[in-house]
Amino acid sequence: MRVPAAAALLFFASALARAEEKPAAVDFAKQVRPILAEHCFRCHGPKEQKNGLRLDRRDDALRGGESKEPAIVPGNPDKSLAVIYIRGDDPEVMMPPEGERVPKEKLELLVRWIREGASWPDEAPDKAPSTGEKR
Ligand code: HEC
Repeated sequence: MRVPAAAALLFFASALARAEEKPAAVDFAKQVRPILAEHCFRCHGPKEQKNGLRLDRRDDALRGGESKEPAIVPGNPDKSLAVIYIRGDDPEVMMPPEGERVPKEKLELLVRWIREGASWPDEAPDKAPSTGEKR
């Protein structure tokens, strides 16, 4: 039996519509890491860890720095210090503390990525020991 062309078309159209409803998950390596690299690694990366915080590795980012509050809480952007500080929700602390703000579209990507569970494929950009081991 032949599937009528109209039915086939309808099938593709609805598949397309579904694809549009649900955008692809945010890709950490392509979309999120570059934001952190550009705006945060200077002070929270392999060379410097202001307030004991590293943002270039998942376990460090989840553990947080001296505040002991996680910088990133998977699934919960509003509890993630990184988001709170970038957004400027805390009158005392803004990140980055000086210079250019993180553009809104980038912040939204970060928020979406955290909401989606903050998946952080282990590409191991460096093998330095975790800062947590010193404490
Ligand atoms: C110019 C250096 C600098 C840059 C760039 C910077 N930070 Fe910070 N960060 C600091 C300093 C200094 C502190 C401690 C400030 C304080 O507590 O008042 C800090 C503290 C933090 C903390 C709290 C750490 C803790 O647990 O104690 C978070 C979270 C944070 N930064 C996130 C970010 C994010 C996200 C970015 C990039 C968007 C960023 N920072 C960029 C200097 C920087």
